[in-house]
Amino acid sequence: MPNYQINKISDQFGVEVIGLDVSKNLNEKDTKVLKNLFHRNHVIVFRDQNISDEEQLSFTENFGELEIYPEVDKTKDSQKTYHVANVNLDGKHLTDKDEQVIFQKVNQRWHTDSSYRFIPSYASLLYGIEVLPDKANGGETEFVNMFRVYEYLDEKLKTKLEYLHMVHYYEFGRRMFPNLPPVSEFEKENIPPVSHPLIRLHPERNNSRSLFFTANAGNEIGGMTQEEGSCLHKKLVDIVSDSAFKYKHRWKKGDLLMWDNRCLLHRAVPYDINKYRRVFRRTTVAGSTAIKGPCLDPEII
Ligand code: OGA
Ligand code: MN
Repeated sequence: MPNYQINKISDQFGVEVIGLDVSKNLNEKDTKVLKNLFHRNHVIVFRDQNISDEEQLSFTENFGELEIYPEVDKTKDSQKTYHVANVNLDGKHLTDKDEQVIFQKVNQRWHTDSSYRFIPSYASLLYGIEVLPDKANGGETEFVNMFRVYEYLDEKLKTKLEYLHMVHYYEFGRRMFPNLPPVSEFEKENIPPVSHPLIRLHPERNNSRSLFFTANAGNEIGGMTQEEGSCLHKKLVDIVSDSAFKYKHRWKKGDLLMWDNRCLLHRAVPYDINKYRRVFRRTTVAGSTAIKGPCLDPEII
């Protein structure tokens, strides 16, 4: 039996782990238990942590290779950690006009991390260093289970989506916030637009299906005019926003939250940026394969 407690945190999905110090090396058995727990529950909150950058990075490595960021993004702290904060590295509270803060507004739209890469990320780990007081409105991180969303789409829409792809591109953040500095030549060369199927098959779960799109990395659908594509995209955003299959995480200081980018969308819930400090550190486990969509039966081609 593990010497830590595991409790459900919502009716939908997600568990909390109490009494595990993630700064200590995990043995093989515990790593296996946690991987299984993650696979089944999609979100794990490790409560009451007190960890350095290095400790967070080594804990993250238990789950796979780290994602390295080539983007010249103001929220970057190093090549491997994101400084997800409205406070700079010297501790100064920034206003909502500051570039570092505007970069994070992109996170307020439904997304999975790195969907604009050919191989998007597998898991993200976000550590709560400074969190909003209980009385404050907003500041949570909200998740939606895209297996359930897909399951409950009407049949006509499922058929329509079957072979469609969405175009994902890093530069889309600049369309939403044109005041940000333009993406660099380096970024353009290293992270060109990609397309991913709207229906995602999960080979490690008997090819079960989930809906896969994001609202912070594009709104265009291959094979459709811009108008048709953005109209379909908006419909999908509305379905997700109105979905019942959600979990909203209200942060406690010391939470280390781990989520599965393969089957959840997430977003930061807006809050009063100028009033409250919010400081998180993110590490990311890279994905290992390109996203698989439905394909025609080779017999038919
Ligand atoms: C992220 C992210 C959400 C939040 O760091 O990838 O989406 O609530 N953060 O800050
Ligand atoms: Mn994110």
